[in-house]
Amino acid sequence: MKNDFIWGTATSAHQIEGAWLEDGKGMNIWDAFSHTPGKIANEDHSETACDHYHLYETDIAHMKALGVNGYRFSIAWSRVIPDGKGKVNPQGIDFYNRLIDSLLAADITPFITLYHWDLPLTLQMENDGWLSEVTADAFARYARICFEAFGDRVQHWITFNENWCTAVIGNGQGNFAPGRISEDEPYIVAHNLLLAHGKAVQNFRRGDFAGQIGIANNCDWREPFTDSDEDRAAAQEALEFFFGWFTDPVIFGDYPAIMRERLGDRLPRFSPEQSEMLKGSSDFLGLNHYTTHYASREAVVPDQIKADVGNGGDQDDQQVYLHHDPEWPRTSMGWFVVPWGFRKLLNWIKARYGDIPIYVTENGCSVAADSKEEAVDDQFRADFIEGYTHALTQAVEEDGVTVKGYFCWTLMDNFEWTRGYNMRFGLMYCDFETLERTPKASFHRYAEIIRTQQASSTES
Ligand code: BGC
Repeated sequence: MKNDFIWGTATSAHQIEGAWLEDGKGMNIWDAFSHTPGKIANEDHSETACDHYHLYETDIAHMKALGVNGYRFSIAWSRVIPDGKGKVNPQGIDFYNRLIDSLLAADITPFITLYHWDLPLTLQMENDGWLSEVTADAFARYARICFEAFGDRVQHWITFNENWCTAVIGNGQGNFAPGRISEDEPYIVAHNLLLAHGKAVQNFRRGDFAGQIGIANNCDWREPFTDSDEDRAAAQEALEFFFGWFTDPVIFGDYPAIMRERLGDRLPRFSPEQSEMLKGSSDFLGLNHYTTHYASREAVVPDQIKADVGNGGDQDDQQVYLHHDPEWPRTSMGWFVVPWGFRKLLNWIKARYGDIPIYVTENGCSVAADSKEEAVDDQFRADFIEGYTHALTQAVEEDGVTVKGYFCWTLMDNFEWTRGYNMRFGLMYCDFETLERTPKASFHRYAEIIRTQQASSTES
């Protein structure tokens, strides 16, 4: 790998910060959702989470020990603008200034995500959140405020994290905030999220800020179940409905043709001006990748439901059935560990979008444990990271894919959304009573991988 490669780790504000109403922070949709009975495992919420708001210096010291040269975190919109659209909260700005300055002092490059699912609650209440383009305008203003406040020191910006999840899980299946259930709203929400991305990028480019701006989209790999034309087409279409939905517009200026064909009027249209605004609006592509499935056009077992495992997506709109190999190891989220799928996906992205730089903005796994002792001995995660980083180096060094960074999800166990604190994805164990962080075996293995990679890196 080149010597400017970023070996990093990633988190998000709502999952680690805590201090949910401190220093002027406003409520967001996840604060409300997680205080709604029955929505989160064990009725967990993130009032305190990892208390990173107060312990960020400890966390940076741990990152230093890990050896990362990049850290991806998100800004809590309602900490900076409590109602999402009105007055700026100076204490919110101060917190992120302290965080950024401490990272830079530790030689860790900050990568900021502006939106990792925590919409200010007022915007949901007054405008129906992402169902309205008003929210996209509020986002573009919030983004500009962040560029102005932090852009003198931060040069890597990500507008949105996994819009697919906001659209499908939050506004289709109802399992994420804001908890809406609908067949058509995911497409409207997605449309407004994409417009919000375009408007924010316009503000960035017009403001002449230094650095780069992009988007982080999630995608699993879809391997054709057989070599038949039908299964190959099914896999391709599944990728277009997943990654293409949010990536084609920011590269080509429109949705994939297959979506237009299948969805007709249910898929909103971009005006020529909007399409122009979106085209080329990502300097790089962020990829969050977790798992792989086989895809087929027809059911292969009787009564099989479409997309019955994992991040299947908007099942009924795709003519795709998903399967897995029973031999594949499975994480405690039930996700399959298939490093070769990661390598294939990186190659697919290059084939479809050309040589645009890619940052792997998330990759990691959950490992169940009944005690701290068991949790810190996480050989499963250590092997996972080794397998996936190996596939990554093959994609770069043997296949010629331009990947510029890898961010392991996640620095420490944290609030895993609907699954609460039971699903542990961290390189560090977090004791949610004492807030003590303890590096796990995977932390040490990842540190070793980084050291080895950096020692053998080539000139950039
Ligand atoms: C999200 C993270 C989440 C992780 C594991 C990604 O979808 O961006 O916030 O914790 O996956 O579920």
